[in-house]
Amino acid sequence: MNEKKVPFTKEQLEKIIKKYPTPFHIYDEAGIVKNIRRFLKAFSWAPNFREYFAVKATPNPYIMKLLKKEGVGADCSSLAELVLCEKVGLSGESIMFSSNDTPYVEYKKAMELGAIINLDDITHIAYIEENLGKLPETLCFRYNPGSLKEGGNDIIGLPEEAKYGMMHDQIIEAINYCKNHGVKKFGLHTMVVSNELDIKGLIGTARIMFNMAQDIKAKTGIEISFMDLGGGIGVAYKPEDTPVDFEALSAGIRKEYEEILISKGHSPISLAFECGRMVTGPYGYLVATAIHEKNIYKHYIGLDACMANLMRPALYGAYHHITVMGKENAPKDHVYDVTGSLCENNDKFAIDRKLPKIDIGDRIVIHDAGAHGHAMGFNYNGKLRSAELLLHADGSVEQIRRAETLDDLFATLDFSKL
Ligand SMILES: Cc1ncc(COP(=O)(O)O)c(C=O)c1O
Repeated sequence: MNEKKVPFTKEQLEKIIKKYPTPFHIYDEAGIVKNIRRFLKAFSWAPNFREYFAVKATPNPYIMKLLKKEGVGADCSSLAELVLCEKVGLSGESIMFSSNDTPYVEYKKAMELGAIINLDDITHIAYIEENLGKLPETLCFRYNPGSLKEGGNDIIGLPEEAKYGMMHDQIIEAINYCKNHGVKKFGLHTMVVSNELDIKGLIGTARIMFNMAQDIKAKTGIEISFMDLGGGIGVAYKPEDTPVDFEALSAGIRKEYEEILISKGHSPISLAFECGRMVTGPYGYLVATAIHEKNIYKHYIGLDACMANLMRPALYGAYHHITVMGKENAPKDHVYDVTGSLCENNDKFAIDRKLPKIDIGDRIVIHDAGAHGHAMGFNYNGKLRSAELLLHADGSVEQIRRAETLDDLFATLDFSKL
């Protein structure tokens, strides 16, 4: 069980709304910092342990800067995310560039910043050589373990059906080639689960990776010097879900690390994760106002937010908890579909949700929207993306991204030529 609370009172929220009208995303700085410190501490045994925050989860430079202060780097997958790193002052091995189907211009930017290049496919070795004339001294390879990773995952699917990474023999071939073509430092990466709450699954991934490192050593003579276990640590979206116990996860990974690698003569390997969801997800809230109530075959509450602000429920049927501000302890004796205004019937934040009676004007807080929330926003139906606010530890609020305007939306149109 995990209690779904909000980090502000109704009165505080009303004050914030006076300055920043709904809908908006608000992130809880104190929550983010406390959580990441606990995560880093849990893995302090691991050599040079690093978290590279998956920028795609919340691509806001203020959030990245906050995390940088805690010693967190960045995992990027695009040019825009690399530019954000540059703006925040992240460079060198603080950046992991884990992209796929990558255009050279993005590799070029990553190399200019000194980022670690993580190759998604064996053909990209030749692609970089052709464009750059050589290979970087440090290279990382994304491993897709195929059916070795049992079970699959709702978001990523079965590894053997996922487009990502290289197969076992391709990694061996890639390393054998690269060791003779100027690469001196090797890393191994994977990302085969998403939103995983079961630590057995996460430890199982680490086991596959440690075994792979031993296999690489046996077949190429190369010892991997760093390993990125990917993102994918889950968020307890439902009140009945149990959040991942970082200490237990770390202890489980440590046991495998020592048994498979250290006790069998492998040199220490630096470990890293590139989580996004668990870093900011639970500490971000989409705040909206109930603007309509509609009763037909079902009862609907219409918000001033829509799936352009948070797409996960429509995309994956994801559960996001809802708090009706001021009615936290009221009986949940109404059943609603909570909707947005998009001309798409799946624009629903909740379906058949038991909630207290909602009145027009009530402030509706949608939980766990801090990752893959605002970031997945879009402009379909001419919807404007909302503002992002940061609730500082001292209670003050800073706008870290303004809301879009119609001028922003139309900025790429030249009306004068009509
Ligand atoms: C390569 C890669 N790394 C990290 C992440 C972050 O995953 P999560 O936010 O689930 O931790 C993703 C998510 O899509 C990803 O594709």
